[in-house]
Amino acid sequence: MSPFQLTRTLAEDAADAALRADVLHGLTRDPKELPPKWFYDARGSELFEEITRLPEYYPTRAEREILMARSEEIAAATGAQTLVELGSGSSEKTRHLIDALLPGLVAYVPVDVSESALKGAGEALAAERPGLRVHALVADFTHGLDLPDAPGPRLVAFLGGTIGNLLPGERREFLRAVRGMLSPGDALLLGTDLVKDEATLVAAYDDAAGVTAAFNKNVLAVIDRELGADARLEDFDHVALWNREREWIEMRLRARHALSVKIPELDLVVPFEAGEELRTEVSAKFRQEGVRTELAEAGLSLTRWWTDGEGRFALSLATVD
Ligand code: SAH
Ligand code: TRP
Repeated sequence: MSPFQLTRTLAEDAADAALRADVLHGLTRDPKELPPKWFYDARGSELFEEITRLPEYYPTRAEREILMARSEEIAAATGAQTLVELGSGSSEKTRHLIDALLPGLVAYVPVDVSESALKGAGEALAAERPGLRVHALVADFTHGLDLPDAPGPRLVAFLGGTIGNLLPGERREFLRAVRGMLSPGDALLLGTDLVKDEATLVAAYDDAAGVTAAFNKNVLAVIDRELGADARLEDFDHVALWNREREWIEMRLRARHALSVKIPELDLVVPFEAGEELRTEVSAKFRQEGVRTELAEAGLSLTRWWTDGEGRFALSLATVD
């Protein structure tokens, strides 16, 4: 048997139905809104990898710094035999953690909606680390995640600050579901970006080279391709702004002039006024007390908190109560 296995728990037609439902719901409400998971087709996953290398996008470098410094401690504290990673993308930073967990580690289970990202990362990892079972899951981590049988203790990693892309209610539900996947002795490793000055935050989501703008607009390309829509990317501006009350970055697409988008597959025409904005993503920023409280509400105890040298990003280790 090949050491790399990929399971699709998200059937193509179910994903298609979910896209239709999200687009129909999101573009007919006021204000308009789309959920962020639709950014990540093959092109979107590539653009995100480009974002991680931008000078303005500090979270990836900060989290990598923490992982490089703390992976041995994480390995010693958890003794994990299975590492499950939610929203694993390229699994690039995770290699530090995997190497620290080896040789005790038996299985690595990367979970992502992006099949192209999972294939690229999983095949490379399985080839480089022949003893390791890599079982990739194409799945939505917000909906009934069903993990393959793999030995405990388990460590569930959720890195990149991706938890900040969920709205508070979704976060609560998500953390409860994660708690439900864990048994005593298992742990959660959670990456969260931290509240900091507005200029640094906004620049990370509005880079000079325009990569984040291209990433944001990619959601329109997905709708055009999958639903036969006629949205023109050049009719929209990328907007990133800091919401001080909610402590999150909001990503929007703003119509440059009055226009309408036809979506034949939904039998829908969506009018935009000049300057009207569509919210595509939030990226919440955290403080230690908030993380502790949200974990506690889900039945998880924060046991370790590590930040990078500049205090920009945090990794939390949590165990079941
Ligand atoms: N963990 C990587 C990637 C972060 S980007 C890093 O830290 O660099 C977020 C990742 O989550 C993408 O790979 C995207 O495809 C995936 N993703 C987003 N929403 C998802 C969902 N609902 N279910 C599963 N994966 C999702
Ligand atoms: N998890 C990443 C973050 O919130 C995702 C991300 C980075 C992102 N840049 C983006 C999402 C731009 C949408 C648009 O930092």
